[in-house]
Amino acid sequence: MEYTEFVDRLTARYDELKWLYCELYRNDQVAFRYFVDMLRRAYADRKAALRELDHARLQEPDWFRSNKLLGMMLYVDNFAGNLRGVRAKLPYLQECGVNYLHLMPLLRTVKGRSDGGYAVADFRQVQPELGTMEDLEALSDACHTAGISLALDFVMNHTSEDHEWAKAARAGDPVARARYFFYDDWDIPKEFEKTVPQVFPTTAPGSFTVLEDCKQIVMTSFYPYQWDLNYANPMVFNDMTENLLYLANRGMDVIRLDAIPYIWKELGTACRNLPQVHTLSRMLRLACEIVCPGVLLLGEVVMEPAKVAPYFGTREKPECHLLYNVTTMCSTWNCLATRDVRLLRRQIDQLSALPREATFQNYLRCHDDIGWGLDYPWLARFGVEEVAHKKYLNDWFTGKWPGSWARGELYNDDPRLGDARLCGTTASLCGMEVEPELAFRADRMLHAWMLTQSGIPVLYSGDEIAQLNDTTYHDDPDKRDDSRYLHRGAFDWALAEQRRDPDTMPGRMFSALRRLERIRAAQSVFCADAAFCGLDTGSNQVLGVCRTRGHDRLIALFNFSEKAQTIRMAERDLTDLVTGRPVDLTAMELPPYGFVWALGKETRSGR
Ligand code: GLC
Repeated sequence: MEYTEFVDRLTARYDELKWLYCELYRNDQVAFRYFVDMLRRAYADRKAALRELDHARLQEPDWFRSNKLLGMMLYVDNFAGNLRGVRAKLPYLQECGVNYLHLMPLLRTVKGRSDGGYAVADFRQVQPELGTMEDLEALSDACHTAGISLALDFVMNHTSEDHEWAKAARAGDPVARARYFFYDDWDIPKEFEKTVPQVFPTTAPGSFTVLEDCKQIVMTSFYPYQWDLNYANPMVFNDMTENLLYLANRGMDVIRLDAIPYIWKELGTACRNLPQVHTLSRMLRLACEIVCPGVLLLGEVVMEPAKVAPYFGTREKPECHLLYNVTTMCSTWNCLATRDVRLLRRQIDQLSALPREATFQNYLRCHDDIGWGLDYPWLARFGVEEVAHKKYLNDWFTGKWPGSWARGELYNDDPRLGDARLCGTTASLCGMEVEPELAFRADRMLHAWMLTQSGIPVLYSGDEIAQLNDTTYHDDPDKRDDSRYLHRGAFDWALAEQRRDPDTMPGRMFSALRRLERIRAAQSVFCADAAFCGLDTGSNQVLGVCRTRGHDRLIALFNFSEKAQTIRMAERDLTDLVTGRPVDLTAMELPPYGFVWALGKETRSGR
């Protein structure tokens, strides 16, 4: 009976899978047969409880588009020491309303050469300080019992130089070397470097590393200890897919495809977003649909706006289920610094034109820096020049701009290109250290805006209690060169203790967010399948969004300025969802960084 299910799922996808595979891998039938056998093994390894979950999710394929989902991302060690600690702290996460938990990388890595866990030395072993694979499975079981889904990174572009493949390659094994990009001299690497932009121009310049001991040059797009895998070799794709399915079978519900745009390399190109990447991500989707159809793929596509949506694939040939809403995130910070919401208005219009299945993971902050990937061609119409504008944003958020109260730090400042990025927690970027009252208002408004967006809202651990930057990384030799550690501090449990005290900042933030999250979970107008559009509020400082679903119509307004703004909109008969009182938008003053969620009934029929 079980295998019938596998065979049925495989058969339904076989032709497409074989076509894609054989086209990419020059008709390598042996490798393809190995791939299919591997899928069968992975299916056999999937335990009954997870297969049941698959069945339940197939019955309710839209489960992740619900307004009831609320995510949080956290580092296991920062939050609770180890995996068992996280399990013990599940009641706290439940108190936060979290039912989707993204654990930052936790597989084996080498201290000092780990890139925050993104240099994986073994895809089947948990970093010993954090626990064991059994602990991870036990956490997943406990999460599932508590109604929480788990997300984990799958770092697929590279392995750590301490991975067994890398060690064998270093020792001269030709089969292992063929899994990476190895060169005897600089001829080809130099050609690549002509067209490949650098990822970490300051902290890890260049895209290649010389291995003095074996007199070789290896491709390292990220840090020198992260060796790029060569996906033109079918063995790499076969074994990495097997690793992905192994993690899915440990009970992960969402697999984050780290740095997916980078996984195919070709001379003469930027080595990003190449068509072959889409073939690979489509095949990963098919593999999951065959082995573990309840599991979702989350693409980490931190690219300029036009490059992101293609990773959803098409309705007939979908790739990722979820993508980061990176453009909205960085446009949001842009609008906070400029007090001008027009860029976000445009972004809303573009998102609303996507098919409704396109589901985003929305966020204000994550473990990474904010790169200013804005729509510069459009901004140019208003005389905004890219380099000068980035400088303004960075000056504002690092508190260098006269009068700024923000407290971020730069990341990978490349003076040659004027291309620095930015780090800091939400509270500190809002200026909590300097202007706590304004910062609280801005922080709450930004979260309300994040909760208004379609998709899964994901809090960055610590933001719920307005945690500030952690500057102690400056004193840690393993971390001091990477300012992303500014917002990767240990979770402050003493601060969290104050969450029930309304006279404290953590207490105010915690209860403000809980209130908004509860409203969101209770109102189906926040479902990802609602229609939405931007609204003209009559003020460039106030963002307006309308969401409609069935007969419900939500008007959401956000004042991105530290000054009160007057709104004049022809909207009546609305109820303020936060106060429960009627609200009149025909002449309304929105306080500094104020916002409104106003619900009314759609008079036209349906949507
Ligand atoms: C992703 C991660 C980032 C990491 C990089 C290399 O972009 O989010 O933290 O440095 O991949 O793996």
